[in-house]
Amino acid sequence: RSIKVFAPATVANVVCGFDVLGFAVDQPGDEVIMRLSDKPGVSLLKITGDGGKLPLNPEKNTVSAIAREYLGHIGRPEVGVEIELHKKMPIGSGLGSSSASTVAGLFAINSLMDSPLNNKELVPFAMKGEELACGYGHADNVAPALMGGFVLIRSYSPLDIISLPFPADLHAAIVYPEVDVPTKDARQMIRSKVFLKDAVTQWGNVAGLVSGLFMNDYELIGRSMTDVLVEPTRSILIPDFYKLRSQAMKAGAVGFGISGSGPSVFALTKDKETALQITASLQHHLKNISINSLAFVSEV
Ligand code: HSE
Repeated sequence: RSIKVFAPATVANVVCGFDVLGFAVDQPGDEVIMRLSDKPGVSLLKITGDGGKLPLNPEKNTVSAIAREYLGHIGRPEVGVEIELHKKMPIGSGLGSSSASTVAGLFAINSLMDSPLNNKELVPFAMKGEELACGYGHADNVAPALMGGFVLIRSYSPLDIISLPFPADLHAAIVYPEVDVPTKDARQMIRSKVFLKDAVTQWGNVAGLVSGLFMNDYELIGRSMTDVLVEPTRSILIPDFYKLRSQAMKAGAVGFGISGSGPSVFALTKDKETALQITASLQHHLKNISINSLAFVSEV
């Protein structure tokens, strides 16, 4: 028996919701092919599309390591599986690349075991994959990758995950400037203490964004997409970040910001046309300052 699973890229934080908000897009994403085998244990047969960057050692690769963890948890450590991972999105881009691979693998193994766990129950396993990949088990990529749409992590301990509604035509314009920003480093550079007045601004915006999603109120969504805690520091790593923002807003973005820990940036838009215009304009700007980029226009 074998299964082929796609898991999507995700935009974590959604500007104001560091570690607590994220959404999934319809593309890009990663693909895992998994088959049951007579040989016990989890083997990683091949990885394509990673430019040789990912470990083939089944204990170090998040897909195989987490599949093994899952099998142990459901009491089936004797099961044999063979895995192929096909990376179809850039690594280290801030689009939840490690999360997409881990989630595709977890969904695959759970399906091959006749789905004893539901998608929400798979989230803690996927968080362990994030810990392996970047040193911290944040859920704002894996939860939306598993559940789709917009997701709020109301609490980490105990884990409390809520799927949020969102406007039907919401699109994302995503641009990945090809500069190196590892999540681990991008997390270490953030201040761990914040001023109360900044916290007040931030939770006002998080509540505003969530309300805007419920009310289909684009204005409210847009004015809530500001971040006084993380973006001022991380934006330094992104070439011409504030120029990119003003261009995106001028071209009709609802809101704009860093995707996850960067360097990708994203704009939310009311339709596909606007998203296409924004990616073209941002890529043009990056080209003028000699930065290569990739762009995706995706449905939320
Ligand atoms: N919330 C995480 C961070 C997402 O900003 O570090 C990483 O993709």
